[in-house]
Amino acid sequence: MSRPVDLRSDTVTRPTAAMRAAMAAAEVGDDVYGEDPTVRELEARVAELLGHESAVFAPSGTMANQLGLRLLVPPGQELLCDDAAHVVRAELGAAAVLAGITTRTWSAPGGRLDAEAAIALARPDAGPYLVSTAALAVENTHNFGGGTVVPIEQLRRLRELADERGLRLHLDGARLFNAHVASGVALADYGRLFDTVSVCLSKGLGAPVGSVLATSASRVAEARVWRKRLGGGMRQAGVLAAAGLHALRHHVARLAEDHARARSLAEVLAGAAPGLLDPAAVATNIVVLDLSGHRLDAPTLARLAAEQGVRVSVLAGRKARLVTHLDVDDAGVARAGEVLGALLAG
Ligand SMILES: Cc1ncc(COP(=O)(O)O)c(C=O)c1O
Repeated sequence: MSRPVDLRSDTVTRPTAAMRAAMAAAEVGDDVYGEDPTVRELEARVAELLGHESAVFAPSGTMANQLGLRLLVPPGQELLCDDAAHVVRAELGAAAVLAGITTRTWSAPGGRLDAEAAIALARPDAGPYLVSTAALAVENTHNFGGGTVVPIEQLRRLRELADERGLRLHLDGARLFNAHVASGVALADYGRLFDTVSVCLSKGLGAPVGSVLATSASRVAEARVWRKRLGGGMRQAGVLAAAGLHALRHHVARLAEDHARARSLAEVLAGAAPGLLDPAAVATNIVVLDLSGHRLDAPTLARLAAEQGVRVSVLAGRKARLVTHLDVDDAGVARAGEVLGALLAG
């Protein structure tokens, strides 16, 4: 059988031949000594793109997020975020375990941010009896929400409200490049609204490893200490940074292709199983299927599809996720549409 069409995540991509060539040719040095020119170039480039003073390369999105959060929230204080945010659902309690940060959440169905509702939860300077809120985190695009692009107006409003209350903001921008391509909003226009911003090179951009945290120079200096302390100091990491630089040059504009494929897949599935999803709500590269009330639950759908060479991820008993990416072409999407369409209709 041919290779499966793997729609579980955009993290499953393998580096292209051109990316591997860029990695092989990278100039490197010891980055713990600050001597890797390619890492330095990547950090400077991402800082500039995001409208920040400085940036630090990290091995994963989780580490970049956690470095950002600990810079903004002192131990014993709280972070607010939505209840499906990656930082609170999928980082295994890192903020609590590693930084002594507590969390409270607001509800954001479909990953849609309501700035006023989010800020209404905040209790800055709560005194000696209650936990004080220090920061809020927003995810853009929103992964479990279905690749939702958070409107820039809501983000601007959140910044205003946060400033009035002396609160900090972190952006989990694992897929900020998708938001940028889908909305046309400049990366720096998103980035400047936040105190710390993480972006991933290993999601839609197709690099094998790597994330970057952008913020002020003084915070980056502190982040470098924590990165080393947490075991994230890497040596000749320029081979990885070169993949990231290659991705920034060659794989950003093409995200529009992933978005178009996700939309067309959603249209096929909506045609096969009317009422299952709204293709117009698919803004980027993620399609979430809500199978409440459907004959198949998500694990069964995933098993039956895998038997026919199409892999999807199970987010919950009745929620499945399909993600398009660099390694899924038109033929792959057509195949996925046939297999999943027949299963969901039948
Ligand atoms: C929104 C979001 N943030 C952060 C991460 C963490 O990235 P990593 O898997 O590199 O730790 C992910 C991973 O899928 C993600 O989807």
